[in-house]
Amino acid sequence: MLIRWSEQMSVGDEELDSQHKILIQLVNDLNDAMRSGHGREAVGKVLTELVKYTEIHFAHEEKRFLAGDYPHKDKHLLKHRLLLERVRELQAQHEAGTRFISMEVLTFLQDWLTEHIMKTDKTYSPYI
Ligand SMILES: [Fe+2]
Ligand SMILES: [Fe+2]
Repeated sequence: MLIRWSEQMSVGDEELDSQHKILIQLVNDLNDAMRSGHGREAVGKVLTELVKYTEIHFAHEEKRFLAGDYPHKDKHLLKHRLLLERVRELQAQHEAGTRFISMEVLTFLQDWLTEHIMKTDKTYSPYI
């Protein structure tokens, strides 16, 4: 297991917390798929799911924080957009066979997700 959700990661909203748990699970699944040597197809499947669920979560989260007086809307939206571009690119490269999902990619996703929840998502807590 690469990442484990803890109370410290809570943004104070049950629904958003459970979506974060799903994202963490998907990054852990990607780690498992990569390590178990099930090959490109298994990794690709999880990667596709990760892209889809990231889109769903971001759309949901944005709707929540855009509805309030949250002062960091633009910065937050930009961070989401850049990450989505990055994972879509990884998925496309994986599909095309031009990039292999490496430990480096997993470390990037792990760090991004942990840091994003802890440092960025938490800033909307008082406004939703
Ligand atoms: Fe976010
Ligand atoms: Fe989030």
